[in-house]
Amino acid sequence: MLTVLGTGYLGITHAACMAHLGFEVLGVDTDREKVARLSRGELPVFEPGLEDLLQAGLASGRLGFTTSYQDAAAFGNVHFICVGTPQRHDGDGADLSQVEACVAALAPLLTRSCLVVGKSTVPPGTGAVIAAELARCAPAGESVELCWNPEFLREGHAVDDTLTPDRIVAGITSARAEAILREVYAGQLAAGVPLFVTDVATAELTKIAANAFLATKISFINAMAEMCDAAGADVRVLASVLGADPRIGPAFLNSGLGFGGGCLPKDIRALMACAADLGADGAVRLLREVDTINLRRRATIAELVCEMIGGSLAGAHICVLGAAFKSGSDDVRDSPALDVAQILHGQGARVTVYDPVAMDKARRACPQLRYATSVQEAAAGAQVILVLTEWSEFGRINPVELARVAGGRRVVIDARHALNKRRWQEAGWHYRAPGVSETAPTASPAADISHLQLIGTSHTVKPQQDQM
Ligand code: UDX
Repeated sequence: MLTVLGTGYLGITHAACMAHLGFEVLGVDTDREKVARLSRGELPVFEPGLEDLLQAGLASGRLGFTTSYQDAAAFGNVHFICVGTPQRHDGDGADLSQVEACVAALAPLLTRSCLVVGKSTVPPGTGAVIAAELARCAPAGESVELCWNPEFLREGHAVDDTLTPDRIVAGITSARAEAILREVYAGQLAAGVPLFVTDVATAELTKIAANAFLATKISFINAMAEMCDAAGADVRVLASVLGADPRIGPAFLNSGLGFGGGCLPKDIRALMACAADLGADGAVRLLREVDTINLRRRATIAELVCEMIGGSLAGAHICVLGAAFKSGSDDVRDSPALDVAQILHGQGARVTVYDPVAMDKARRACPQLRYATSVQEAAAGAQVILVLTEWSEFGRINPVELARVAGGRRVVIDARHALNKRRWQEAGWHYRAPGVSETAPTASPAADISHLQLIGTSHTVKPQQDQM
């Protein structure tokens, strides 16, 4: 009998997947409307495969939702804390108020032995504070235990990442906690998923450090894109060559507009804030630069639009393709795409946005922008077309047809390397992409080294012509 406290991306996915694996699960949220929607089988987020699991769980009777912590305490032997930990409004640190409220609501109701499992992303030391709070407030006393079990799921792959994760981390203080987690994840462990048993602080740090490393990798390749722009080189080929070294690996070397979303940006800032609190700020000072490089991508693209327009954005008609922070998601939290759209709007441009799935969330977040219902509608009369999210749909745009609806200038800025440069150029478009010199031959996409040809024994790498 499991409860999942908090029904955001993490909580809904964890609850639905655990029910799918055969557990009885009760999801808890203080938002009545959300609980009502989930109870009807309606998913409040776009996440491939998750709505089917939610509806199957409800139909099986193994999955339910409530707003009552009383019901949750009575129901569960294992309680998963899955509430959000966004960035604080007044600084870089993590806002732990939802975690604190969750524990404050649950602890006094715990009258029998149980395990409280933290899954939310938190700075190290949070678990120790929660354990003390449970010891102070839970009527069942020492038989209520805390452990930390961070979650590494990616939006857009949340179901697969939960059912077949790369690794499971169990930050524990007792053999009993380890045994319970082994029971919960018995299926994954039997399938060979590695389990890392650690102390609580190390477990907390694994998640935030993993995200900091991924962010660093992205900012590194984006710094190299700046070098490529300066040197007339091609960052996509560079990334392919770097990624072919197994010590580096090809993943997360896609340069472009940088990282956004609800995790990477706030997690690197939370790590910096936490390091400062611990007197170890020097240890993660490089993350300030990672953040700066990342935010500079957005300003650089806006400057490029300005340059292509001929100086002033006032009154310019700009078409923005993409609003989500990445493809496969309707999440617009700290979306680089929407940020660029807002910068352009702020400089007087008439910005029209189209995204295949994130329109509602984008409209709510940025009501001042214009929205279109198709690529063609967004592009009608536009002086510049900007591709800011790497939806595969944008890669399939016919540049000849789009040229007919767009304005006469035919300028496309491919900020995510999502288009086929040669195809657009052949259709008469002026194609620009960050990190790719205008005159460089067309090259294979970053992280896809299968297109590279090794010539003779000298290992000369020659970019292959685009296939589309
Ligand atoms: C991330 C972590 O990957 C995941 O393990 C953690 O649990 C939550 O945070 P997510 O936020 O869903 O997941 O997105 P991710 O796929 O990591 O992408 C983050 C951002 O980086 C996106 O804006 C994406 O467009 C960008 N990105 C990613 C790049 O710019 N280049 C890349 O090569 C990869």
